[in-house]
Amino acid sequence: MKILVTGSDGQLGRSIQQRISLYPDFSFDFTDIDQLDITDYAAIKSHIENTKPDVIVHCAAYTAVDKAEEEKERAHLINATAVGYLAQLALEYKILLIHISTDFVFDGFSNKAYIEEDSAQPISIYGKSKLAGEEAIIKNGPNAIIIRTSWLYSEYGHNFAKTILRLAAERPELKIVSDQIGTPTYAGDLADAILKILNLNYRPNGVQIFHYSNEGMASWYDFAKEIVEIKKLACIVHPIKTEEYPLPASRPAYSVMNKEKFKRYFFSEIPEWKKSLKICLENLS
Ligand SMILES: NC(=O)c1ccc[n+]([C@@H]2O[C@H](COP(=O)([O-])OP(=O)(O)OC[C@H]3O[C@@H](n4cnc5c(N)ncnc54)[C@H](OP(=O)(O)O)[C@@H]3O)[C@@H](O)[C@H]2O)c1
Repeated sequence: MKILVTGSDGQLGRSIQQRISLYPDFSFDFTDIDQLDITDYAAIKSHIENTKPDVIVHCAAYTAVDKAEEEKERAHLINATAVGYLAQLALEYKILLIHISTDFVFDGFSNKAYIEEDSAQPISIYGKSKLAGEEAIIKNGPNAIIIRTSWLYSEYGHNFAKTILRLAAERPELKIVSDQIGTPTYAGDLADAILKILNLNYRPNGVQIFHYSNEGMASWYDFAKEIVEIKKLACIVHPIKTEEYPLPASRPAYSVMNKEKFKRYFFSEIPEWKKSLKICLENLS
């Protein structure tokens, strides 16, 4: 199986790269913007014609949630228009498209874990651009798996876990938002999940949406506190309210996702967020 990975220098892309030795039968083509700019339709088409992938694992995205509020066009171009290009070409060349979306497509006014059929009402430009990406796939109709995930962190790039690790080592106290509830997800676990799905040779007939995160739920305060506890740092973490730490983009107050569909189709053993956090922090030390 030939697998084209976009955005392969990002958190998820690098987590997939780190695991490829476990899948010697797969042939990977890792690309980031310098090798394949997903906003360039002609470049993607010629890349596909030259390399003939069976699957595209689409990890490239515009992920700067706050900056997106000022860069609406760029966020839309990368997260929606370019996804439409990939979907169109996936249909034309009969390629399975695995696309990653986000819990930020939900408004967060629920208090019950979101299922795939729940109405998506994003409250930020980033969330709107990611929902438009999902819609572009559905409109084009290739065989596609859309995986919505949440609060990704990893050993790579910039993420909440690495920021807290640095700040908690430098400062005696931190104030962290405690009224947004979601599920931290280790990009290594999501990479494992995607590779396992490929190994199962699952082929949807049309577009299927799945929710995947680690097990459990937490606030950003719980997440930060757990990091401090695991690393036995002296820093004291204080809970604060969202309005005490204003940011350009609104975030859902509650974005826990129900993973029953994913478990029914693929596998039921999903690591608990605290266990995976420990693994990631060990890898970082
Ligand atoms: N991070 C999260 O908390 C989170 C939560 C839920 C869902 N997700 C979704 O999960 C997926 C993976 O996220 P991630 O955290 O791994 O993202 P990431 O670390 O930001 O990686 C995205 C990669 O895509 C690249 N890229 C940007 N524009 C591109 C273009 N035009 N052509 C090709 N590559 C381009 C980026 O390059 P630059 O760095 O140079 O821009 C980066 O290397 C994304 O779809 C994201 O929306 C993320």
